[in-house]
Amino acid sequence: MDKFLVTGAMGFVGSHWCEHLLRKGKKVFGLDLGPFYPELLEHPNFVFAQDTIKNYQLLKNLVDRVDCVCHFAGIAEPQQYIQFPRKVIDITAVVGLNLIEMCRCTGKLFLFTSTSEIYGKSDALPFKEDGDRVLGATTTKRWCYSSSKAVLEHYLDACARARELDHITVRLFNIYGPRLHGRVISTFIEDAMRGRDLVIHGNGEQTRCFTYVDDMVEAFDRLVSNRECYNSVFNVGNPIETSMKMLASTVQQVAASNSIIRNVNYDQAYGSSYEDIPRRVPDISKITRFTGWTPATSLERGIAATIAYINGAQNRESALQKRRRQELRHSAAPLSIN
Ligand SMILES: NC(=O)c1ccc[n+]([C@@H]2O[C@H](COP(=O)([O-])OP(=O)(O)OC[C@H]3O[C@@H](n4cnc5c(N)ncnc54)[C@H](O)[C@@H]3O)[C@@H](O)[C@H]2O)c1
Repeated sequence: MDKFLVTGAMGFVGSHWCEHLLRKGKKVFGLDLGPFYPELLEHPNFVFAQDTIKNYQLLKNLVDRVDCVCHFAGIAEPQQYIQFPRKVIDITAVVGLNLIEMCRCTGKLFLFTSTSEIYGKSDALPFKEDGDRVLGATTTKRWCYSSSKAVLEHYLDACARARELDHITVRLFNIYGPRLHGRVISTFIEDAMRGRDLVIHGNGEQTRCFTYVDDMVEAFDRLVSNRECYNSVFNVGNPIETSMKMLASTVQQVAASNSIIRNVNYDQAYGSSYEDIPRRVPDISKITRFTGWTPATSLERGIAATIAYINGAQNRESALQKRRRQELRHSAAPLSIN
């Protein structure tokens, strides 16, 4: 497999996966709304289309050129499920179905990032891939994301059973690392580095399983390289549980920050139509059995690496600004008249 299309290529998951593919000498076509990472844009094997995934003519053209479509474009920030549910359903379910159809008609492998939200508020922990989904009312906005991803999972399963398409579906559990924005762990890290309060929603006893992005990339690589993994669903997550209280204090310690940790209730944070999930833990025995994969990065090490990246990015940014200022001064200098 040599040519890949990555939708959401400039997003968090997409940019790390593109870098990995390029390091392996693959040709990568990226599609996203904005050009953010020069390290990707400048790579000779990377072709970038800055456009919406709703441009189906362009999308079809890109699908035709590749062997595998890695579909990551979407809306992944919890605040957005609450604020823009229609947009979440449109981009996730409607666009996703159209893209799968393009792959079905042209025989392209489809790598799909589903989510741990699929399990909803099930209490059958740890979550196994064939476990029940337990969701709330359709008037509770947060379930629109889980339900949209589930529609695509059903569709992929139906296509695969009819031998019309090959897919790999990964249910991601709180992936974090450099370039993540808008999720609890990235917000805590950014706030700790700036000395702002770390704000916990609810009492802080709720847990999540945080998975470092390099571990996720390794899992994707093993799955895509092994035909036995096709047409199946895999949990990709670190099974170690961390409460929000524990996360805040770990971030505070690793960042050596003086930030204060405080709690606010859910209504203050999200309005009244929010329902949190107390625990979410992956059972990873299936992916370990198929590929030998287990996560290797501790929370402390992952947070430290993320902080180092942010510091490096700030230094790179200020060096760039300094150079631009110098160039500006130079170009503004009066011409010498001989
Ligand atoms: N990061 C996680 O922990 C996690 C967990 C579960 C599932 N996922 C899934 O993984 C995928 C990637 O998530 P992420 O964390 O990288 O999110 P992200 O927000 O960093 O990346 C998503 C990218 O999609 C792009 N995008 C959105 N709408 C688009 C449009 N109309 N046209 C073109 N591009 C568009 C955005 O510009 C962004 O770059 C998503 O599908 C998400 O649902 C992520």
